[in-house]
Amino acid sequence: MWARRALVLITLLSAAVGPMTAVHGHGDAAPQPVDTAGLDPVGTVWLEENPYRLKGGKQYELAQQIGASGYNQNCARCHGLEAVSGGIAPDLRYLETGTDGDQWFLQRIRHGYSQDGSVKMPPFENILNQEAMWAIRSYLETRPN
Ligand code: HEC
Repeated sequence: MWARRALVLITLLSAAVGPMTAVHGHGDAAPQPVDTAGLDPVGTVWLEENPYRLKGGKQYELAQQIGASGYNQNCARCHGLEAVSGGIAPDLRYLETGTDGDQWFLQRIRHGYSQDGSVKMPPFENILNQEAMWAIRSYLETRPN
């Protein structure tokens, strides 16, 4: 109950301060597309593993940078700045590493999460491309618990 009230409050607050948030870096309330220029395309088939971690090197570094801004724009308002949760949504620093974590991450980011008809987390499929999703996963991998 507490979490639900807090979530409603935060949602209202972020709607109210929406226009200011770019300045403060919390990200707008509406999902934002992420510019993934420079990242190798991953194609249309949904992957089971973070392709940029597998590639390593410069692609992984670039993915982490792009993912940091993608995270700030789209996820931080619920999951917390720099992935440190304030308690209204899970702390993403504790996501499992490796393939199991990858699949769970992709599942949630694509489909979001609803409970009793209310959207707790919006789906990001068709808003973010797969490159952007794996970029955010790459960023989260730089923020271990
Ligand atoms: C409107 C708030 C909101 C936004 C925005 C949001 N999430 Fe979530 N997210 C949640 C909530 C609430 C849950 C918990 C759902 C549940 O009970 O499983 C969750 C769960 C998750 C989980 C599963 C965590 C776990 O420990 O099982 C992942 C992964 C995740 N979100 C990633 C993201 C990413 C990446 C973004 C940005 C692209 C994002 N979320 C944006 C609210 C949000």
